[in-house]
Amino acid sequence: MRLAGKRVLLIVSGGIAAYKIPELVRLLRGEGAEVRCVLTAAGAKFVTPLVLQTLSGHPVGEDLFPLGGEAEIGHIQLSRAADVLLVAPATADLLARMACGLGNDLASAVLLATDKPVLVAPAMNVRMWQHPATQANVATLRARGIGVIGPESGPMACNEFGPGRMSEPEALLAALVALLAPAPGPLAGRHVLVTSGPTHEPIDPVRYLANRSSGRQGHAVAAALAALGARVTLVSGPVALADPEGMAVRHVETAEQMLAACLEALPADAAVCAAAVADWRVAEIAAGKLKKQPGAAAPRLELVANPDILATLAAPGRNRPRLVVGFAAETADLLAHAEAKRRQKQADWIVANDVGGGSGIMGGTENEIHLLTAAGVEHWPRLAKEEVARRLALRIAQALAAT
Ligand code: C5P
Repeated sequence: MRLAGKRVLLIVSGGIAAYKIPELVRLLRGEGAEVRCVLTAAGAKFVTPLVLQTLSGHPVGEDLFPLGGEAEIGHIQLSRAADVLLVAPATADLLARMACGLGNDLASAVLLATDKPVLVAPAMNVRMWQHPATQANVATLRARGIGVIGPESGPMACNEFGPGRMSEPEALLAALVALLAPAPGPLAGRHVLVTSGPTHEPIDPVRYLANRSSGRQGHAVAAALAALGARVTLVSGPVALADPEGMAVRHVETAEQMLAACLEALPADAAVCAAAVADWRVAEIAAGKLKKQPGAAAPRLELVANPDILATLAAPGRNRPRLVVGFAAETADLLAHAEAKRRQKQADWIVANDVGGGSGIMGGTENEIHLLTAAGVEHWPRLAKEEVARRLALRIAQALAAT
């Protein structure tokens, strides 16, 4: 009963594949879901309201403005009383109306009024599916976050062959289960701390020392770990990125604040220090803006060392995460420096990358890394930062599972 207590609103539009929908209703109820159906006028030509009502155990919605009044529930309530909306089969016409935001019947009005996740299972003749209008509509819907299942390729009722067949009821059920009851990821129950972004070290109330870190790699690592089911605490320096969803995000400015936020977040099973923490801060922050004086010498800034967050987290002790991962951005002697860093800071792994001039890595969208562990060095190809993050998160999951 993977869908126990989940409420599915099934919107059935007019395609021959509608004959498979009673089977889908049966499968969904078998998994414990509560199913309500809305039928378009064309849909009712392929499957009767009585069949859907009998199998779902609820009246079937057909009219936007029903005369019966109270016995029917309106489009807003239908959307409120659902955890997910599935349009199956989704005809080219209904997809077009969704893309345009029309609400001229009950099905399209519910789809326009909803704030719930929506999945569509297109089903139509191959040429209707391949028509640029349909493809543009589907692209629009995808861009709005609507999930598209299928269509599958195969022989069609219209004696043609190609993409356009609605996905089978089992595949639609699997998509709903994946959305409403995802399997626990390999990091479920684990807490992972991630640092990301630069730090800003104030000089005076308006100036600061900083670096070119965008936070993209660290944020991507945090998102990839969360996608594997980890509880993630992301401690982020100032970045221009949105907070990734599904995790606790602590915003900090300085290295000292970042360290405090990290220590507060412990205990953790693993820590990934991807932040580009400023090595030094200004010894004394000026209370007022430093002023230019005509003819006077430029001010001299005295710097003091910042705490090393990675080394602090990796130091042996009761609260040390079992796996501590650091990053090393170098412009020369990459591997030698990275391995020295791994040992000095007592990190388990170092993700090393060459940020030398022209690499485009710092602040860019791709990364080419070496992973240094006690077992040796691996060289990964140049990949999108999200893909580096995904692979690293999988490796972290494997390592934690093995300890
Ligand atoms: O020494 P370096 O700055 O090159 O080391 C990089 C690694 O150490 C990164 O993982 C970075 O997040 C971490 N680090 C830190 N605190 C510092 C300096 C670096 O956590 N003050």
